Amino acid sequence: MTTRDPSKTLLVTIAGIAATGGLLFGFDTGVISGALLFIRQDFSLGPTAQEWVVSAVLLGCIAGAATSGRIADTLGRRKVIIATAVLFAAGSIWTSAATSIPLLIAGRVVIGLAIGVASFAVPLYISEISPPAHRGALVSLNQLLITIGIVASYLVDDLFAGAAQPWRYMFLAGVVPAIILGTGMLLLPETPRWLMEHDQEDRARAVLGKLLPREEAETELAAIRDSLARGEHGTLRDLLAPWMRPVVVIGAGIMFVQQTTGINTVIYYAPTIFEMAGFTSATTAITATVGVGLVNVFMTVVSIRLVDRLGRRPLLSAGLLGMIVSLVVLALAFQFESAMGTELKWVTVAALFAYIGSFAVSLGPIAWLLIAEIYPLHIRGLAMSLATLCNWVFNFAIASTFLTIVDSLGKAGAFWLYAGVGTLGWFFCRTWVPETKGVPLERLESDLRAGVPARNLGTGNSL
Ligand code: BGC
Repeated sequence: MTTRDPSKTLLVTIAGIAATGGLLFGFDTGVISGALLFIRQDFSLGPTAQEWVVSAVLLGCIAGAATSGRIADTLGRRKVIIATAVLFAAGSIWTSAATSIPLLIAGRVVIGLAIGVASFAVPLYISEISPPAHRGALVSLNQLLITIGIVASYLVDDLFAGAAQPWRYMFLAGVVPAIILGTGMLLLPETPRWLMEHDQEDRARAVLGKLLPREEAETELAAIRDSLARGEHGTLRDLLAPWMRPVVVIGAGIMFVQQTTGINTVIYYAPTIFEMAGFTSATTAITATVGVGLVNVFMTVVSIRLVDRLGRRPLLSAGLLGMIVSLVVLALAFQFESAMGTELKWVTVAALFAYIGSFAVSLGPIAWLLIAEIYPLHIRGLAMSLATLCNWVFNFAIASTFLTIVDSLGKAGAFWLYAGVGTLGWFFCRTWVPETKGVPLERLESDLRAGVPARNLGTGNSL
Protein backbone atom coordinates (compact mmCIF):
# COMPACT_ATOMS: atom_id res chain seq x y z
CA MET A 1 0.00 0.00 0.00
CA THR A 2 1.14 3.59 -0.59
CA THR A 3 1.53 5.89 2.37
CA ARG A 4 0.69 9.28 0.83
CA ASP A 5 -2.82 9.48 2.21
CA PRO A 6 -2.62 10.80 5.84
CA SER A 7 -5.02 8.17 7.18
CA LYS A 8 -2.87 5.44 5.58
CA THR A 9 0.26 6.89 7.14
CA LEU A 10 -1.53 6.85 10.47
CA LEU A 11 -2.64 3.25 9.97
CA VAL A 12 0.85 2.08 9.06
CA THR A 13 2.26 3.93 12.09
CA ILE A 14 -0.30 2.40 14.46
CA ALA A 15 0.18 -1.10 13.03
CA GLY A 16 3.96 -0.65 13.08
CA ILE A 17 3.99 0.31 16.78
CA ALA A 18 1.73 -2.60 17.74
CA ALA A 19 3.84 -4.96 15.63
CA THR A 20 6.85 -4.22 17.90
CA GLY A 21 5.18 -7.03 19.86
CA GLY A 22 6.10 -9.27 16.89
CA LEU A 23 9.70 -8.05 17.09
CA LEU A 24 9.82 -9.17 20.73
CA PHE A 25 8.23 -12.51 19.79
CA GLY A 26 10.97 -13.11 17.18
CA PHE A 27 13.82 -11.69 19.28
CA ASP A 28 13.03 -13.58 22.45
CA THR A 29 12.56 -16.91 20.65
CA GLY A 30 15.77 -16.51 18.61
CA VAL A 31 18.12 -15.05 21.23
CA ILE A 32 18.54 -18.30 23.13
CA SER A 33 20.39 -20.03 20.28
CA GLY A 34 23.52 -17.89 20.82
CA ALA A 35 23.03 -17.26 24.55
CA LEU A 36 22.83 -20.98 25.30
CA LEU A 37 26.44 -21.59 24.26
CA PHE A 38 27.64 -19.31 27.09
CA ILE A 39 25.01 -20.24 29.69
CA ARG A 40 26.06 -23.85 29.18
CA GLN A 41 29.65 -22.93 30.07
CA ASP A 42 28.90 -20.57 32.97
CA PHE A 43 26.59 -23.01 34.76
CA SER A 44 28.15 -26.28 33.46
CA LEU A 45 24.80 -27.49 32.13
CA GLY A 46 24.04 -31.00 30.92
CA PRO A 47 21.66 -31.70 28.00
CA THR A 48 18.49 -31.95 30.12
CA ALA A 49 19.08 -28.63 31.87
CA GLN A 50 19.79 -27.05 28.47
CA GLU A 51 16.54 -28.41 27.08
CA TRP A 52 14.73 -26.83 30.05
CA VAL A 53 16.33 -23.44 29.47
CA VAL A 54 15.23 -23.56 25.82
CA SER A 55 11.75 -24.98 26.22
CA ALA A 56 10.75 -22.96 29.32
CA VAL A 57 9.78 -20.17 26.91
CA LEU A 58 7.45 -22.47 25.00
CA LEU A 59 5.75 -23.58 28.21
CA GLY A 60 5.24 -19.91 29.11
CA CYS A 61 3.79 -19.28 25.63
CA ILE A 62 1.33 -22.11 26.09
CA ALA A 63 0.24 -20.77 29.49
CA GLY A 64 0.03 -17.17 28.21
CA ALA A 65 -2.10 -18.03 25.18
CA ALA A 66 -4.33 -20.36 27.22
CA THR A 67 -5.21 -17.86 29.90
CA SER A 68 -5.48 -14.44 28.32
CA GLY A 69 -8.19 -14.62 25.63
CA ARG A 70 -11.03 -13.64 27.95
CA ILE A 71 -8.87 -10.90 29.43
CA ALA A 72 -8.43 -9.36 25.96
CA ASP A 73 -12.21 -9.45 25.52
CA THR A 74 -12.85 -7.92 28.95
CA LEU A 75 -10.02 -5.43 29.52
CA GLY A 76 -9.47 -4.50 25.91
CA ARG A 77 -6.83 -5.28 23.30
CA ARG A 78 -4.69 -2.22 24.06
CA LYS A 79 -4.38 -2.74 27.81
CA VAL A 80 -3.43 -6.37 27.30
CA ILE A 81 -0.63 -5.38 24.90
CA ILE A 82 0.63 -2.77 27.40
CA ALA A 83 0.68 -5.42 30.14
CA THR A 84 2.60 -7.68 27.76
CA ALA A 85 5.24 -4.99 27.23
CA VAL A 86 5.71 -4.78 31.02
CA LEU A 87 6.11 -8.57 31.19
CA PHE A 88 8.64 -8.50 28.33
CA ALA A 89 10.70 -5.82 30.08
CA ALA A 90 10.50 -7.55 33.47
CA GLY A 91 11.41 -10.93 31.96
CA SER A 92 14.38 -9.47 30.09
CA ILE A 93 15.78 -7.77 33.20
CA TRP A 94 15.12 -10.83 35.33
CA THR A 95 16.84 -13.30 32.97
CA SER A 96 19.80 -10.98 32.48
CA ALA A 97 20.32 -10.78 36.25
CA ALA A 98 19.66 -14.47 37.05
CA THR A 99 22.18 -16.03 39.43
CA SER A 100 21.00 -19.63 39.18
CA ILE A 101 19.42 -21.94 36.62
CA PRO A 102 16.02 -22.14 38.38
CA LEU A 103 15.85 -18.33 38.38
CA LEU A 104 16.84 -18.22 34.73
CA ILE A 105 14.20 -20.79 33.82
CA ALA A 106 11.55 -18.86 35.79
CA GLY A 107 12.49 -15.66 33.92
CA ARG A 108 12.24 -17.48 30.58
CA VAL A 109 8.74 -18.64 31.55
CA VAL A 110 7.78 -14.98 32.20
CA ILE A 111 9.08 -14.03 28.75
CA GLY A 112 7.14 -16.97 27.31
CA LEU A 113 3.94 -15.71 28.95
CA ALA A 114 4.49 -12.36 27.24
CA ILE A 115 5.15 -13.98 23.85
CA GLY A 116 2.08 -16.21 24.20
CA VAL A 117 -0.15 -13.18 24.79
CA ALA A 118 1.52 -10.90 22.22
CA SER A 119 1.30 -13.57 19.52
CA PHE A 120 -2.48 -13.23 19.33
CA ALA A 121 -3.18 -9.83 20.89
CA VAL A 122 -1.09 -7.92 18.33
CA PRO A 123 -2.71 -9.41 15.16
CA LEU A 124 -6.08 -9.04 16.89
CA TYR A 125 -5.48 -5.35 17.58
CA ILE A 126 -4.20 -4.64 14.06
CA SER A 127 -7.01 -6.52 12.31
CA GLU A 128 -9.59 -4.54 14.25
CA ILE A 129 -8.21 -1.14 13.34
CA SER A 130 -7.59 -2.00 9.65
CA PRO A 131 -9.94 -1.29 6.74
CA PRO A 132 -10.64 -4.49 4.73
CA ALA A 133 -8.66 -3.45 1.64
CA HIS A 134 -5.35 -3.27 3.52
CA ARG A 135 -5.96 -5.64 6.40
CA GLY A 136 -3.77 -8.42 4.99
CA ALA A 137 -0.71 -6.22 4.60
CA LEU A 138 -1.17 -4.43 7.93
CA VAL A 139 -1.67 -7.60 10.00
CA SER A 140 1.26 -9.24 8.21
CA LEU A 141 3.52 -6.42 9.48
CA ASN A 142 3.45 -8.40 12.71
CA GLN A 143 4.95 -11.44 10.98
CA LEU A 144 7.50 -9.20 9.25
CA LEU A 145 8.65 -7.93 12.63
CA ILE A 146 8.76 -11.51 13.97
CA THR A 147 11.21 -12.39 11.19
CA ILE A 148 13.22 -9.18 11.75
CA GLY A 149 13.28 -10.00 15.48
CA ILE A 150 14.76 -13.42 14.72
CA VAL A 151 17.56 -11.92 12.59
CA ALA A 152 18.12 -9.14 15.17
CA SER A 153 18.58 -11.79 17.86
CA TYR A 154 21.30 -13.51 15.80
CA LEU A 155 23.05 -10.15 15.31
CA VAL A 156 22.77 -9.18 18.99
CA ASP A 157 24.19 -12.60 19.92
CA ASP A 158 27.08 -11.90 17.58
CA LEU A 159 27.61 -8.37 18.91
CA PHE A 160 28.00 -9.41 22.54
CA ALA A 161 29.73 -12.76 21.99
CA GLY A 162 33.11 -11.30 23.07
CA ALA A 163 31.89 -9.80 26.39
CA ALA A 164 32.15 -11.40 29.84
CA GLN A 165 28.97 -13.39 30.54
CA PRO A 166 27.59 -12.21 27.17
CA TRP A 167 24.22 -13.91 27.68
CA ARG A 168 23.29 -11.25 30.25
CA TYR A 169 23.59 -8.48 27.64
CA MET A 170 21.86 -10.61 25.01
CA PHE A 171 18.77 -10.99 27.21
CA LEU A 172 18.89 -7.39 28.43
CA ALA A 173 18.72 -6.08 24.84
CA GLY A 174 15.06 -7.19 24.79
CA VAL A 175 14.20 -4.28 27.12
CA VAL A 176 14.60 -1.75 24.29
CA PRO A 177 11.74 -3.00 22.05
CA ALA A 178 9.66 -3.66 25.19
CA ILE A 179 9.89 0.04 26.14
CA ILE A 180 9.01 1.08 22.58
CA LEU A 181 5.97 -1.23 22.61
CA GLY A 182 4.76 -0.10 26.05
CA THR A 183 5.14 3.64 25.53
CA GLY A 184 3.90 3.43 21.94
CA MET A 185 0.73 1.60 22.95
CA LEU A 186 0.02 4.17 25.69
CA LEU A 187 -0.37 6.70 22.87
CA LEU A 188 -2.57 4.51 20.64
CA PRO A 189 -6.36 4.19 20.84
CA GLU A 190 -8.39 1.08 21.75
CA THR A 191 -9.93 -0.65 18.71
CA PRO A 192 -13.33 0.69 17.53
CA ARG A 193 -14.80 -2.82 17.66
CA TRP A 194 -13.89 -3.35 21.29
CA LEU A 195 -15.12 0.17 22.20
CA MET A 196 -18.47 -0.51 20.57
CA GLU A 197 -18.78 -3.78 22.39
CA HIS A 198 -18.27 -1.88 25.63
CA ASP A 199 -20.86 0.81 24.91
CA GLN A 200 -18.43 3.54 23.95
CA GLU A 201 -19.84 4.46 20.56
CA ASP A 202 -18.62 8.07 20.64
CA ARG A 203 -15.05 7.03 21.21
CA ALA A 204 -15.37 4.32 18.56
CA ARG A 205 -16.67 6.94 16.09
CA ALA A 206 -13.79 9.28 16.93
CA VAL A 207 -11.20 6.53 16.32
CA LEU A 208 -12.81 5.35 13.08
CA GLY A 209 -13.13 8.98 11.93
CA LYS A 210 -9.33 9.28 12.00
CA LEU A 211 -8.78 6.04 10.12
CA LEU A 212 -11.47 6.06 7.43
CA PRO A 213 -13.37 8.54 5.23
CA ARG A 214 -16.55 9.66 7.02
CA GLU A 215 -19.01 7.55 5.03
CA GLU A 216 -16.98 4.40 5.33
CA ALA A 217 -16.63 5.02 9.06
CA GLU A 218 -20.43 5.20 9.47
CA THR A 219 -20.95 1.99 7.42
CA GLU A 220 -18.35 0.25 9.56
CA LEU A 221 -20.03 1.46 12.78
CA ALA A 222 -23.40 0.18 11.56
CA ALA A 223 -21.93 -3.23 10.69
CA ILE A 224 -20.30 -3.54 14.10
CA ARG A 225 -23.57 -2.46 15.78
CA ASP A 226 -25.44 -5.18 13.86
CA SER A 227 -23.01 -7.87 14.84
CA LEU A 228 -23.27 -6.79 18.49
CA ALA A 229 -27.07 -6.58 18.53
CA ARG A 230 -27.25 -10.32 19.04
CA GLY A 231 -26.19 -9.96 22.67
CA GLU A 232 -23.84 -12.95 22.93
CA HIS A 233 -21.06 -12.94 25.47
CA GLY A 234 -18.20 -14.97 24.10
CA THR A 235 -17.85 -17.83 26.54
CA LEU A 236 -16.21 -21.17 25.80
CA ARG A 237 -19.69 -22.58 25.37
CA ASP A 238 -20.44 -20.04 22.63
CA LEU A 239 -17.21 -21.06 20.90
CA LEU A 240 -18.30 -24.70 20.90
CA ALA A 241 -21.71 -23.93 19.34
CA PRO A 242 -22.28 -25.98 16.14
CA TRP A 243 -22.36 -22.91 13.85
CA MET A 244 -18.85 -21.97 15.00
CA ARG A 245 -17.38 -25.35 14.05
CA PRO A 246 -16.00 -24.34 10.62
CA VAL A 247 -13.91 -21.49 12.03
CA VAL A 248 -12.72 -23.53 15.00
CA VAL A 249 -11.48 -26.21 12.58
CA ILE A 250 -9.83 -23.63 10.29
CA GLY A 251 -8.02 -21.96 13.22
CA ALA A 252 -6.72 -25.17 14.79
CA GLY A 253 -6.03 -26.72 11.35
CA ILE A 254 -4.00 -23.84 9.95
CA MET A 255 -1.86 -23.72 13.12
CA PHE A 256 -1.35 -27.50 12.92
CA VAL A 257 -0.13 -27.17 9.33
CA GLN A 258 2.04 -24.13 10.13
CA GLN A 259 3.91 -25.94 12.88
CA THR A 260 3.96 -29.62 11.88
CA THR A 261 5.59 -28.94 8.51
CA GLY A 262 8.73 -28.34 10.56
CA ILE A 263 9.37 -24.57 10.40
CA ASN A 264 10.91 -24.39 13.84
CA THR A 265 13.25 -27.30 13.28
CA VAL A 266 14.78 -24.93 10.73
CA ILE A 267 14.53 -21.79 12.90
CA TYR A 268 15.89 -23.47 16.05
CA TYR A 269 18.18 -26.09 14.52
CA ALA A 270 19.44 -24.58 11.24
CA PRO A 271 23.12 -24.73 12.32
CA THR A 272 22.63 -28.38 13.38
CA ILE A 273 21.06 -29.23 10.00
CA PHE A 274 23.92 -27.52 8.16
CA GLU A 275 26.39 -29.51 10.26
CA MET A 276 24.54 -32.73 9.43
CA ALA A 277 24.94 -31.80 5.76
CA GLY A 278 28.70 -31.55 6.13
CA PHE A 279 29.54 -27.92 6.99
CA THR A 280 32.26 -28.49 9.52
CA SER A 281 33.06 -24.93 10.58
CA ALA A 282 30.64 -23.41 13.09
CA THR A 283 31.15 -19.97 11.51
CA THR A 284 29.94 -21.16 8.10
CA ALA A 285 26.97 -22.89 9.70
CA ILE A 286 26.07 -19.68 11.54
CA THR A 287 26.52 -17.50 8.43
CA ALA A 288 24.20 -19.83 6.54
CA THR A 289 21.73 -19.51 9.42
CA VAL A 290 21.74 -15.71 9.15
CA GLY A 291 21.11 -16.23 5.43
CA VAL A 292 18.05 -18.32 6.29
CA GLY A 293 16.83 -15.49 8.57
CA LEU A 294 17.29 -12.88 5.84
CA VAL A 295 15.41 -14.94 3.23
CA ASN A 296 12.62 -15.24 5.82
CA VAL A 297 12.45 -11.42 6.15
CA PHE A 298 12.67 -10.75 2.44
CA MET A 299 9.98 -13.22 1.41
CA THR A 300 7.65 -11.91 4.14
CA VAL A 301 7.92 -8.49 2.46
CA VAL A 302 6.97 -10.16 -0.84
CA SER A 303 3.95 -11.73 0.87
CA ILE A 304 2.86 -8.36 2.31
CA ARG A 305 2.92 -6.87 -1.17
CA LEU A 306 0.85 -9.70 -2.64
CA VAL A 307 -1.60 -10.72 0.06
CA ASP A 308 -4.27 -8.07 -0.59
CA ARG A 309 -3.85 -8.34 -4.37
CA LEU A 310 -3.57 -12.06 -5.12
CA GLY A 311 -5.44 -13.15 -1.99
CA ARG A 312 -4.71 -15.60 0.81
CA ARG A 313 -5.56 -18.88 -0.97
CA PRO A 314 -3.24 -18.63 -4.00
CA LEU A 315 -0.31 -17.68 -1.75
CA LEU A 316 -1.05 -20.53 0.66
CA SER A 317 -1.35 -23.04 -2.16
CA ALA A 318 1.83 -21.98 -3.99
CA GLY A 319 3.85 -21.59 -0.77
CA LEU A 320 2.85 -24.99 0.57
CA LEU A 321 3.76 -26.62 -2.76
CA GLY A 322 7.18 -24.94 -2.56
CA MET A 323 7.64 -26.21 0.99
CA ILE A 324 6.67 -29.77 0.03
CA VAL A 325 9.06 -29.85 -2.94
CA SER A 326 11.94 -28.46 -0.82
CA LEU A 327 11.25 -31.00 1.94
CA VAL A 328 11.26 -33.85 -0.60
CA VAL A 329 14.58 -32.58 -2.00
CA LEU A 330 16.02 -32.44 1.55
CA ALA A 331 14.73 -35.96 2.26
CA LEU A 332 16.21 -37.33 -1.00
CA ALA A 333 19.52 -35.57 -0.39
CA PHE A 334 19.88 -37.15 3.06
CA GLN A 335 18.56 -40.49 1.76
CA PHE A 336 21.34 -40.68 -0.82
CA GLU A 337 23.88 -38.97 1.42
CA SER A 338 26.72 -41.38 0.70
CA ALA A 339 26.32 -41.10 -3.08
CA MET A 340 26.15 -37.30 -2.92
CA GLY A 341 29.50 -36.47 -1.29
CA THR A 342 30.17 -32.76 -0.96
CA GLU A 343 27.24 -31.86 -3.24
CA LEU A 344 24.99 -32.59 -0.26
CA LYS A 345 25.99 -29.33 1.41
CA TRP A 346 24.87 -27.16 -1.46
CA VAL A 347 21.69 -29.08 -2.17
CA THR A 348 20.82 -28.68 1.54
CA VAL A 349 21.48 -24.93 1.51
CA ALA A 350 19.40 -24.43 -1.64
CA ALA A 351 16.54 -26.58 -0.34
CA LEU A 352 16.48 -24.89 3.07
CA PHE A 353 16.45 -21.43 1.47
CA ALA A 354 13.62 -22.49 -0.86
CA TYR A 355 11.76 -23.99 2.09
CA ILE A 356 12.00 -20.91 4.30
CA GLY A 357 11.13 -18.59 1.37
CA SER A 358 8.03 -20.63 0.59
CA PHE A 359 6.98 -20.60 4.25
CA ALA A 360 7.53 -16.85 4.56
CA VAL A 361 5.35 -16.05 1.58
CA SER A 362 2.48 -18.25 2.77
CA LEU A 363 1.95 -20.06 6.07
CA GLY A 364 4.11 -17.65 8.11
CA PRO A 365 2.01 -14.53 7.76
CA ILE A 366 -1.25 -16.04 6.53
CA ALA A 367 -1.89 -18.40 9.46
CA TRP A 368 -1.82 -15.42 11.87
CA LEU A 369 -3.82 -13.28 9.47
CA LEU A 370 -6.59 -15.85 9.04
CA ILE A 371 -7.13 -16.30 12.75
CA ALA A 372 -7.40 -12.52 13.09
CA GLU A 373 -10.14 -12.47 10.46
CA ILE A 374 -12.43 -15.47 10.70
CA TYR A 375 -13.96 -15.29 14.19
CA PRO A 376 -17.08 -13.31 15.14
CA LEU A 377 -16.46 -10.18 17.18
CA HIS A 378 -18.07 -11.27 20.45
CA ILE A 379 -15.69 -14.21 20.74
CA ARG A 380 -12.63 -13.06 18.82
CA GLY A 381 -10.20 -12.72 21.78
CA LEU A 382 -11.01 -16.10 23.24
CA ALA A 383 -11.09 -17.88 19.86
CA MET A 384 -7.78 -16.36 18.73
CA SER A 385 -6.10 -17.22 21.98
CA LEU A 386 -7.17 -20.86 21.60
CA ALA A 387 -5.91 -21.06 18.01
CA THR A 388 -2.67 -19.51 19.29
CA LEU A 389 -2.56 -22.08 22.06
CA CYS A 390 -2.71 -24.79 19.35
CA ASN A 391 0.19 -23.06 17.59
CA TRP A 392 2.40 -23.18 20.69
CA VAL A 393 1.43 -26.73 21.65
CA PHE A 394 2.30 -28.01 18.13
CA ASN A 395 5.46 -25.89 18.15
CA PHE A 396 6.52 -27.49 21.44
CA ALA A 397 5.67 -30.99 20.16
CA ILE A 398 7.77 -30.58 16.99
CA ALA A 399 10.71 -28.73 18.57
CA SER A 400 11.02 -31.25 21.38
CA THR A 401 10.85 -34.30 19.10
CA PHE A 402 13.05 -33.28 16.16
CA LEU A 403 16.30 -34.76 17.45
CA THR A 404 14.50 -37.91 18.65
CA ILE A 405 12.79 -38.30 15.25
CA VAL A 406 16.16 -37.91 13.51
CA ASP A 407 17.49 -40.61 15.85
CA SER A 408 14.69 -43.08 15.18
CA LEU A 409 13.64 -42.37 11.55
CA GLY A 410 16.95 -40.97 10.32
CA LYS A 411 17.49 -37.49 8.84
CA ALA A 412 15.74 -38.40 5.60
CA GLY A 413 12.82 -39.91 7.56
CA ALA A 414 12.24 -36.66 9.46
CA PHE A 415 11.97 -34.63 6.25
CA TRP A 416 9.77 -37.26 4.56
CA LEU A 417 7.47 -36.99 7.55
CA TYR A 418 7.19 -33.18 7.31
CA ALA A 419 6.66 -33.44 3.52
CA GLY A 420 3.80 -35.93 4.13
CA VAL A 421 2.14 -33.62 6.65
CA GLY A 422 2.63 -30.72 4.21
CA THR A 423 0.76 -32.64 1.51
CA LEU A 424 -2.17 -33.24 3.86
CA GLY A 425 -1.97 -29.55 4.79
CA TRP A 426 -2.16 -28.53 1.14
CA PHE A 427 -5.44 -30.50 0.75
CA PHE A 428 -6.74 -29.03 4.01
CA CYS A 429 -6.14 -25.48 2.79
CA ARG A 430 -7.78 -26.21 -0.59
CA THR A 431 -10.93 -27.58 1.02
CA TRP A 432 -11.32 -25.52 4.21
CA VAL A 433 -9.67 -22.12 3.97
CA PRO A 434 -11.89 -19.27 2.67
CA GLU A 435 -10.64 -16.33 0.60
CA THR A 436 -10.88 -13.40 3.01
CA LYS A 437 -9.20 -10.80 0.76
CA GLY A 438 -11.13 -7.49 0.99
CA VAL A 439 -14.10 -9.04 2.82
CA PRO A 440 -15.40 -6.99 5.81
CA LEU A 441 -15.03 -8.94 9.07
CA GLU A 442 -18.76 -8.57 9.80
CA ARG A 443 -19.60 -10.16 6.43
CA LEU A 444 -17.58 -13.25 7.35
CA GLU A 445 -19.59 -13.45 10.54
CA SER A 446 -23.00 -13.18 8.86
CA ASP A 447 -22.02 -15.92 6.37
CA LEU A 448 -20.93 -18.15 9.21
CA ARG A 449 -24.26 -17.66 10.97
CA ALA A 450 -26.08 -18.43 7.71
CA GLY A 451 -24.35 -21.82 7.56
CA VAL A 452 -22.12 -21.01 4.57
CA PRO A 453 -19.45 -23.76 4.41
CA ALA A 454 -15.92 -22.88 5.54
CA ARG A 455 -14.39 -22.67 2.07
CA ASN A 456 -17.09 -20.21 0.87
CA LEU A 457 -17.17 -17.82 3.85
CA GLY A 458 -17.19 -14.25 2.59
CA THR A 459 -18.87 -15.13 -0.71
CA GLY A 460 -22.35 -15.64 0.76
CA ASN A 461 -22.52 -18.81 -1.29
CA SER A 462 -23.99 -21.64 0.74
CA LEU A 463 -23.61 -24.28 -2.01
C1 BGC B 1 5.62 -18.96 13.45
C2 BGC B 1 6.81 -19.26 14.31
C3 BGC B 1 8.06 -19.21 13.46
C4 BGC B 1 8.14 -17.91 12.69
C5 BGC B 1 9.28 -17.94 11.72
C6 BGC B 1 5.79 -17.64 12.78
O1 BGC B 1 4.68 -17.37 11.97
O2 BGC B 1 4.43 -18.97 14.24
O3 BGC B 1 6.64 -20.50 14.93
O4 BGC B 1 9.20 -19.34 14.27
O5 BGC B 1 6.95 -17.67 11.98
O6 BGC B 1 9.32 -16.80 10.93
